[in-house]
Amino acid sequence: MTNLIIERLFKEMPAFHAWPDGSPADWSVSNDVLRFISDLVRPGMSTLETGAGQTTVALAASGAKHVCITPDKDQIRRIQAYLEPLGLVDSVHFIQQSSDVALPSGRGVPDQLDLVLIDGAHRFPFPVLDWHYTQERVPVGGIMIVDDFRMPSVRILYDFLVGEDEWELVKAFQVTAIFRRTKKTVSVWDWADQRINKEHLERFKQKNDIESGSQRFMSLLKSWMARKQ
Ligand SMILES: C[S@@+](CC[C@H](N)C(=O)[O-])C[C@H]1O[C@@H](n2cnc3c(N)ncnc32)[C@H](O)[C@@H]1O
Repeated sequence: MTNLIIERLFKEMPAFHAWPDGSPADWSVSNDVLRFISDLVRPGMSTLETGAGQTTVALAASGAKHVCITPDKDQIRRIQAYLEPLGLVDSVHFIQQSSDVALPSGRGVPDQLDLVLIDGAHRFPFPVLDWHYTQERVPVGGIMIVDDFRMPSVRILYDFLVGEDEWELVKAFQVTAIFRRTKKTVSVWDWADQRINKEHLERFKQKNDIESGSQRFMSLLKSWMARKQ
């Protein structure tokens, strides 16, 4: 069933999106990514995407309990019309809101998300916000997909995730990156826990080595840094 629907999407290439002048558009991820997602998702998994389109159909067809966040009611209408004859209309819970409003409220967002696709508003800081408000719900082994990661406003998120211990880059398609959570995020000392700040932490230590008279502070800092190596 899933494969049939995916093949049908490839053949029909439905235009769920629209240009600012209203003419139909298709801003979907590539067919390879659609196939990858549908192979990954198992019935009953809990999934969420920011943005909507062919990915919404693919996730619904894979048997996921899917949440889709987009402010665009026409898109929702078009996708629902496509899902209806396939018997999948109830598989997607649409939240018709901007993700920066919907996600912080948490309303309608499941506690656990096995897969998150970040493909909503692409302007900074939306991709980072979408990640921030979903990442805590992604368990170890769960998937975080970042689309259009070559765009500078999205690349910031990609570069951060590539560098951190909690995320592993599983696969990079042309513009779509698939990450898996490798461990829980534990924040003991805020910024100093993150690899992105490693060099800054080194400089901080060196500065305090020279300036700080506090032996206790330096030994705490050194043991902290030793644990982070
Ligand atoms: C590139 S398209 C998504 C394509 C879709 N993932 C697919 O592969 O078919 C971007 C989507 O983001 C939605 N969007 C725009 N602004 C948004 C916002 N503030 N919050 C959530 N979604 C938004 C658009 O309506 C559109 O559905």
